[in-house]
Amino acid sequence: MLNYKAQIAELIKKQLDEIEVEQISYAIEIPPKPEMGDYAFPCFKLARILRRSPQQIAAELAQKINMHPFLKRVQAAGPYVNFFLNYTTLAQDVLSSVYLGGTGFARKPGNDKTIVIDYSSPNIAKPFHIGHLRSTIIGQSLYNIYTYLGYNCVGINHLGDWGTQFGKQILAYKLWGDDTAISQNPIKEFVKLYIRFHDEAEQNPDLNDQARAWFKKLENGDREARDIWKWMGEESLKEFAVLYEKLNVSFDHNTGESFYLDKVPEIVEMLQAKGLLIESDGAYVVELGEDMPPCLIIKADGTTIYTSRDIAAAFYRKRTFNFDKALYLTDYAQNLHFKQWIKVIELMGMDFAQDLIHASFGRVRLTEGPMQTRKGTSILLEELLNEAYKKTLSIIAERNPNLPDREKVAEQVAVGAIIFNDLYNNRMSDIVFNWEEVLNFDGETGPYLQYTYARSCRVLEKCPVDVTDDIDYSILDEPETISLIKSIYHLPEVITRAGAEYEPSVLSRHIMQIARNFNRFYHNNQIICEDDEKLKARLLMCYAANKVIKIGLDLLNMPSPERM
Ligand code: ARG
Repeated sequence: MLNYKAQIAELIKKQLDEIEVEQISYAIEIPPKPEMGDYAFPCFKLARILRRSPQQIAAELAQKINMHPFLKRVQAAGPYVNFFLNYTTLAQDVLSSVYLGGTGFARKPGNDKTIVIDYSSPNIAKPFHIGHLRSTIIGQSLYNIYTYLGYNCVGINHLGDWGTQFGKQILAYKLWGDDTAISQNPIKEFVKLYIRFHDEAEQNPDLNDQARAWFKKLENGDREARDIWKWMGEESLKEFAVLYEKLNVSFDHNTGESFYLDKVPEIVEMLQAKGLLIESDGAYVVELGEDMPPCLIIKADGTTIYTSRDIAAAFYRKRTFNFDKALYLTDYAQNLHFKQWIKVIELMGMDFAQDLIHASFGRVRLTEGPMQTRKGTSILLEELLNEAYKKTLSIIAERNPNLPDREKVAEQVAVGAIIFNDLYNNRMSDIVFNWEEVLNFDGETGPYLQYTYARSCRVLEKCPVDVTDDIDYSILDEPETISLIKSIYHLPEVITRAGAEYEPSVLSRHIMQIARNFNRFYHNNQIICEDDEKLKARLLMCYAANKVIKIGLDLLNMPSPERM
């Protein structure tokens, strides 16, 4: 596709010596209303350079600019020069590009940059809570987006598999564990054991000493302790795997915190050599100045902590993958944690500190139902998905009673609804989970998007597209059709921006816009009609919308059922 902004900048540049083409391009805007054209060049800055009024300059430029086939009109309006595109050439340009590219439309060729994405990262023997769900959904979408943009992505599930709580977990298991119950419902049982441990330890503090002793054993590589711990990890992962499969999520590496234990001593040595490590009540910390509390590196009992393992992990990842950027997806409760350890790496003089990005996100609140936080545990995700599935199934049964494969579709729509709800808002905003809204087929929801896709599939199923030659693109001239074509034209920049801002909502909002435009086009025009010329042009329009919505659904990691 032509880069219209760049082309227009060139045309302007031909009339101006005083300003660079990059500056022109930077200044060009997209006007808020169609009457003001498709692009506008404001002349305020030039007015200062040329010492004439911006109105005068605009009028003169509009006169002088050479017309080009992609332009219909150039017009001055006050201090602006407005450019009106020729919509016939635009339609041809956009629709034939999508036709040629298919679902690879706008995909960028591979580059040599690597992005490491640390996401999901639940804790072993603990529930996978809604924060982990957000991390999983946002992380996977960013992974897809960056892959589309040509980056080499490395997805890492940084499992929380280390810490003193494992001493308690092992002891509780040895005292009260029931293998059969655990094999059926591992995490639930582990959590029960953990809660029981805390209850009993209140009566019998001696248990705490025993738990500490078990953790010591685990640290020293005691065979039994290691075996139990390893098995807990495997059982938990099996359970997480069910969720990952439902969400169609996968990782390149499942490396938990324990993987970095033997890599912490080197970090400690480096910190010592640089004079950054300070003893404080038997523990070792790095001072971070006025703004932040010191960063704990080694506890008084000599063990590592979450933070030191993160530092070791960052060095390991830099050396192993030589990343250009490393992203971390967690909720904002961990902001200080990330700020602290990234600062430590900066103080160590490592340039890659600036490439460590904590893309934090807001919290999720639920408005009703069994998903309310339970005593002792967080929301059970299984339940969330099951509830979404049940509700979707009944909506589908009502809307489309003869739908084949109803259960499978309900599953896809339920998952899509949850994902979309998460990705539709700015990362940082807290989201409220409201069933009515999430599953509303007519709202700004996942089901609406999927439904629009399925609708376009139905048209193409009835009447496939085969050519792009001989199409009279001037037929596609209604305002809603032009809006649709333009929104498709802008998709590549939108994907780039979603990546640059680590913000899938930039993409989800744009895809929603495309879907809305498509539905308007669909309602106002009979696609399958008697007039052969109209039929061909409108079918191709439908085909292009279908492909780009599919690209969007894929990048957001949403399922795309062809019938609903
Ligand atoms: N396991 C942590 C938690 O549940 C999240 C880990 C995020 N990644 C990281 N490298 N710290 O809160």
